[in-house]
Amino acid sequence: MKLKQTLAEAIHHVIPELSIEEIHAKIEKPKYAHHGDFAFPTFELAKIKKQAPHLLASNLASEINHSIIAKTEPVGPYLNFFLEKEIAQQQIVNTIFDKQQAYGDLTFGNGENIVLDLSSPNIAKPFSMGHLRSTVIGNALANILEKCGFKTIRINYLGDWGTQFGKLISAYLKWGSKEDVLKSPIPELLKLYVKFHVEAEKDETLIEEGRLWFKKLEDGNDEALSLWKWFREESLLEFQRIYDLLGVSFDSNNGEAFYNDKMDSVIDHLKKMNLLTLSDGAEVVVLEEDPSLPPCLIKKSDGATLYATRDLAAAFYRKKTYQFSKALYVVGQEQTIHFQQVKAVIKKMGEDWAKDMHHIPFGLLLKDGKKMSTRKGKVVLLENVIREAIQLADSNIQAKNPELPNKEEVAKQVGVGAIIFHDLKNYRLNSIEFSLEDMLKFEGETGPYVQYTFARASSILRKATWTPKESTKGLHDSYSWELSKLLYDFPAVIEKAYVGFDPSAIAKYVIDVCQSFNTWYGQVKFLNEDQEKESRLALVYASTIVIEESLRLLGMKAPKEM
Ligand code: ARG
Repeated sequence: MKLKQTLAEAIHHVIPELSIEEIHAKIEKPKYAHHGDFAFPTFELAKIKKQAPHLLASNLASEINHSIIAKTEPVGPYLNFFLEKEIAQQQIVNTIFDKQQAYGDLTFGNGENIVLDLSSPNIAKPFSMGHLRSTVIGNALANILEKCGFKTIRINYLGDWGTQFGKLISAYLKWGSKEDVLKSPIPELLKLYVKFHVEAEKDETLIEEGRLWFKKLEDGNDEALSLWKWFREESLLEFQRIYDLLGVSFDSNNGEAFYNDKMDSVIDHLKKMNLLTLSDGAEVVVLEEDPSLPPCLIKKSDGATLYATRDLAAAFYRKKTYQFSKALYVVGQEQTIHFQQVKAVIKKMGEDWAKDMHHIPFGLLLKDGKKMSTRKGKVVLLENVIREAIQLADSNIQAKNPELPNKEEVAKQVGVGAIIFHDLKNYRLNSIEFSLEDMLKFEGETGPYVQYTFARASSILRKATWTPKESTKGLHDSYSWELSKLLYDFPAVIEKAYVGFDPSAIAKYVIDVCQSFNTWYGQVKFLNEDQEKESRLALVYASTIVIEESLRLLGMKAPKEM
């Protein structure tokens, strides 16, 4: 829809010194509605014309005319525009009606590939709150990227390799039992792993034993390999239950182990380029270009490769396989240095695509102000947390709407949605307090509030037995106008979310839309038989499209009743 564009053209008509694009880029939204719907600052034009901005503004005000402009007011150096509400309002609603779910689709992604490294929990360890954040943020980002016209590849880079598996195998063979692991795989494997460390404090030979088992694993020893495979499969089954609850899926589960046979070529390449330096017997790449970065460890003195080595191999593999235009790593901010190192090494290898690798960091999930820990028996199993959220949502529904059909499904959508929304409404770098009670409230800035507003809007349309059709008449009251203007902003909000890799832009936006909708709801009788009824319902319908699409981008469902 062309509101801003039309305005830019009308301004250009009077100010040919600036192109339509330049004008378009300068048009702002005033902070307060009583200052108009759009504002144009005259500073730059004033420079060109060598006039005082406020004089220029007052001279131009009467000259800019268009049927969509109701009034132009000079305020200091600004030109404030009030649009013809009824015309503009009808245009907004009808554009959304035309485009339906495709409203807000952008095309600048041009079908290019973007690889997202997300979730990536560690085998035989609990799925942590950090992995939850990575999953939820990464999934929303992928949806946003697709909305912008990119193709995405969601990769779950499982932590399924490393010396810890030698220790785990050793511990399992000493103290483990198959039945116990089968009964509750991850807690049991964690218990064995913790026990290994406790015992190793008393008996030093254990560490050596663990190392030997890892060596066997790397050399392809049958017993080691089949135990490792088993631990991996059992862990994946547990993770899969979480992904099913969250409604997230991946294009690839190639984890660290997948790169075992792909590291040599990177190491050879580094050698050929003379980038490897010996340091205490280990091979490192010195990153002198950036003095704040420690050397990147590539190979330990015993020949073992490291986390960074595998990430290097993975980056090359992904570049070759997917020809990505960007590679995003949605990983907690505590790994910032690691990603800077990996990127710096690739840059040193002369690969200009290193610049396309972006670490997308995020803060912690806190419980009572402290990091939620999975160490030392204090395991918070995420699956249980999600199930608890669903249960709480279920009792809320039970209290509010006991007759609701498919209560179970709705409780799941609300409980899971609450967790997702609570995460995404905060800027990702902020740490957030994890409180089920807060996130499940039906009021305030919560997932249930947004879903409830959607259900309310859907129920209005149901009661009116209204079939979607274009609006034939614009609304003129200020409540519906504020809501319509917000709906108009949707494409720009998506672009903003893309630019900052920031799903919170959409979460905050959909809260605004819902608040505006509910304010309007409090002011009008939707079903009143008057001239505006059809147009009101058209706006309700347009609102449902934007709310549902916002929720979809965040990775949430929009139940029509709740
Ligand atoms: N498994 C790692 C962890 O839990 C996260 C992996 C992040 N992705 C990466 N390419 N390094 O800390």
